[in-house]
Amino acid sequence: MGFSSSPETEKFLCDRLLDNAQPISERFRALFSLRNLRGSAPRQALLLATRDPSNLLAHEAAFALGQMQDAEAVPALERLLFDLTLHPIVRHEAAEALGAIGLEGNVCILEKSLATDPAQEVRETCELALRRIEEQKNVKHNEDEMLHLSVSAFLSVDPARPTSDCSSVQELREVLLNEEKCMYERYAALFALRNHGGEGSVSAIVDSLSAGSALLRHEVAYVLGQLQNKAASDALSEVLRNVNEHPMVRHEAAEALGSIADKESVALLEEFVKDPESIVSQSCEVALSMLEFERSGKSFEYLFMQTPQVQ
Ligand SMILES: [Fe+2]
Ligand SMILES: [Fe+2]
Repeated sequence: MGFSSSPETEKFLCDRLLDNAQPISERFRALFSLRNLRGSAPRQALLLATRDPSNLLAHEAAFALGQMQDAEAVPALERLLFDLTLHPIVRHEAAEALGAIGLEGNVCILEKSLATDPAQEVRETCELALRRIEEQKNVKHNEDEMLHLSVSAFLSVDPARPTSDCSSVQELREVLLNEEKCMYERYAALFALRNHGGEGSVSAIVDSLSAGSALLRHEVAYVLGQLQNKAASDALSEVLRNVNEHPMVRHEAAEALGSIADKESVALLEEFVKDPESIVSQSCEVALSMLEFERSGKSFEYLFMQTPQVQ
């Protein structure tokens, strides 16, 4: 699915995305609009944004390229993954994007990074992406399953396929919290619990915020944002407050609190908009701006300028 847009709109969005004199929230508005477009100009702009001094914008651009599943972005994502001068959060998204695009040729790229990247969160992402590509190969003949693997009910291309429906919440909880299980198994349990919903699932997901892996914790915070369940706000607040937590995890907690948006969450975002870690402060800034748009009944994205078009 994509949106049609005029060349003028496209140019406006690309310029805005790359204009570092603009507030970060304005640049995110452009990014969120560009990810619905296809073609070389939006792709080029997003690729340039993956090199932005704002690690938050850079990682979001890489994430968007993965969600767009655009094979033409692969060579640039490969260069991104192997550029060790970049923040691990950016390399992590490059690896995840290569998994989401899912081409067979991405396997050797991911294997090389798995063997060489100094950051654990990047290596774990490679491990997941490799398994995702493997799984995709196995279900290729079954179109229903294929669709299931590609886009979730939450409209995200998930890094793992949810565990099959026959597992109980208790079984899924055990896998998610089991430090001995491999990352893919735990991710699969996490997405199955998310799709299942309900109190037991949410409390299992919240409990896994204490997992040993920062990568898993960040995905858990992301999923709690998708669920928008107030029962998670205390735990997410604790994550955002914890200055010793990985910025990737605090970032997802800030975004999740923005989508829960109760009074306490908003107050906390206002407090941490001054955090010394820019990934965190900018996450709060973007989340607050999105809420502001929502409150005034306006669209955060610029897509009101275009008409949806099914492709
Ligand atoms: Fe991520
Ligand atoms: Fe993120």
